[in-house]
Amino acid sequence: MMKLPLPRNPVSLVGVLLTTLGAVLFLIFFLADAFGLHSNPYMGIVFFIVLPSIFVLGLLLIPIGSWLHRRRLAAGKPDVWPKIDFNNPRHRNIAAMAFGLTVVNIMIVSMAAYAGVEVMDSTAFCGTVCHEVMQPQHEAFKAGAHARVGCVGCHIGPGASWFVKSKLSGTRQVFAVAFNTHERPIPSPVKNLRPARETCEQCHWPEKFHGDKVRVFREYAADEKNTVTETTLQMHIGGGQSANRPVTGIHWHTSLATEIEYITTDAKRQVIPWVRLKDRDGNVREYTAEGVTAADLAKGERRRMDCVDCHNRPGHPFASTAEKAVDAALASGDLPLSLPFVRREAVAAVKGTYPNQQTATDAIAAKVREFYKTQQPQVYMTRRPEVERAVVSVLAIYSRNVFPAMNVTFGTYPNNIGHMDFPGCFRCHDDSHKAKDGRVISQTCDACHGIQ
Ligand code: HEC
Ligand code: HEC
Ligand code: HEC
Ligand code: HEC
Ligand code: HEC
Repeated sequence: MMKLPLPRNPVSLVGVLLTTLGAVLFLIFFLADAFGLHSNPYMGIVFFIVLPSIFVLGLLLIPIGSWLHRRRLAAGKPDVWPKIDFNNPRHRNIAAMAFGLTVVNIMIVSMAAYAGVEVMDSTAFCGTVCHEVMQPQHEAFKAGAHARVGCVGCHIGPGASWFVKSKLSGTRQVFAVAFNTHERPIPSPVKNLRPARETCEQCHWPEKFHGDKVRVFREYAADEKNTVTETTLQMHIGGGQSANRPVTGIHWHTSLATEIEYITTDAKRQVIPWVRLKDRDGNVREYTAEGVTAADLAKGERRRMDCVDCHNRPGHPFASTAEKAVDAALASGDLPLSLPFVRREAVAAVKGTYPNQQTATDAIAAKVREFYKTQQPQVYMTRRPEVERAVVSVLAIYSRNVFPAMNVTFGTYPNNIGHMDFPGCFRCHDDSHKAKDGRVISQTCDACHGIQ
């Protein structure tokens, strides 16, 4: 029988033990995972990142150990290694076994690397591993238009280089979370976000944008009937990229033929005192806001405008105000419109300040029920299911917009589409950004939308 060729120096021996341990645990876990026996993303980190690291560390220790050992030999210590002789069947067996093990090792490492990448790319990893920190974005994401796209669709995009970049900056963030030094809320904008051209445009082809889109905004009153007011806007979406078709409307800014750069002087990119436009014919025009000095501009951040300068909340939209959130729930039917005063009561309930989500949940549910019980006893007696539906809906509005632990609430994150709750389009379109020839970036309502 063949003896196992254990190394005769302690460092390599530790290496062999670590590698074996790592490999066995990893294989067990890999099979469990393949059969769907776990679902916790923390386990994913332990097994697909920590175990393979132990495995690779062990593999590295083996040659390091024998190198140290050979150095000792060179220093005149006695040789404990056998001379390799391929005429000796035992040596041939050992060589074959070493070769076989190396192949198996390579397979394990590739499997681990693949599984590790998959775990780190999953929405569960982004959204729940740093649970409290990313909870606001994760909750909003699940309710948004991109819930099936995954965090990495926008935050990393295709190709290996951004994956590596994001994992490097992610490592720093993991430390910030571990040592609790991260900011609350997580600041926006993301300074080193990948250009939208390489992410959004995987799915949205700007050359296909055209024409108008009709949007109906519904606002409800704080009266008994929750009276609705409708505003219909005909949004001039526009678009087009090609050289022989006019590029028009809102998406003109990001057509290939147009190049807009701007300087912003605040951390949230809400103040934009300087804009430079290079049009499709190469003409350049610079617009400057009133009263701005060259010194202000020199301190600012300069940036080429892309999709996220308007669509800065596509993946995880939060409502700008409690009123907007409640109006959206009424418009979609989540919140029963027929309940008297439901708009007023819902807004009051979600606007309260509570120390944490758990306290809020209990207090909000009690508040809504209490109102109907004492002020509308008839409704409370006869239409209990509607009242309970309202409770569920109001709780959902709160828990997906307000996160006391992260200091996130309605309006914490500005939304740059529009101009009602945040400056948005009017950061530039305010009739006072002037070029040398007197031309301004216009605030004419009709340029952007028809109003009915
Ligand atoms: C449809 C694209 C998209 C998806 C999907 C997406 N994000 Fe974002 N996210 C963005 C953009 C764009 C910004 C940057 C906004 C800015 O720079 O103004 C951002 C910013 C952030 C920020 C910084 C704080 C903030 O809210 O602005 C965090 C944290 C974040 N995303 C986490 C996530 C997580 C976690 C997921 C998945 C659960 C996710 N994102 C999915 C587009 C997306
Ligand atoms: C992997 C594909 C994918 C990527 C990447 C992606 N989107 Fe989307 N986006 C979609 C799909 C699919 C929808 C339609 C969802 C629906 O109709 O509910 C959508 C809808 C939208 C909408 C309209 C719906 C709404 O109410 O928000 C906007 C605006 C939008 N995306 C902007 C962006 C921006 C900006 C980016 C880059 C930061 C981006 N998307 C990245 C697939 C993607
Ligand atoms: C100047 C601001 C601005 C820029 C830049 C911009 N968009 Fe938009 N986009 C808008 C507005 C405004 C709307 C209409 C929003 C609404 O529904 O009220 C819109 C609508 C959309 C829609 C929905 C279209 C539909 O018919 O439902 C998608 C998708 C979209 N944009 C993607 C993009 C992508 C991708 C980019 C970058 C190539 C981009 N946008 C650049 C302002 C902008
Ligand atoms: C960074 C500055 C900036 C922001 C922010 C901005 N725009 Fe503009 N926009 C411009 C400039 C510059 C022009 C060209 C002005 C001119 O005609 O001299 C322009 C032109 C337009 C036009 C006319 C395009 C055409 O057909 O010629 C529309 C429509 C428009 N913007 C819509 C919007 C909307 C909607 C938003 C907000 C979602 C927005 N813009 C935000 C800089 C901006
Ligand atoms: C530079 C482009 C632009 C100009 C100029 C502009 N708007 Fe708007 N407006 C928008 C966009 C984009 C939205 C859509 C916001 C959204 O999707 O939530 C909007 C939304 C609105 C809404 C509905 C908002 C809500 O939240 O209920 C009203 C009302 C409105 N605009 C009125 C006006 C009036 C009046 C003017 C002229 C003084 C004007 N707008 C000028 C881009 C513009």
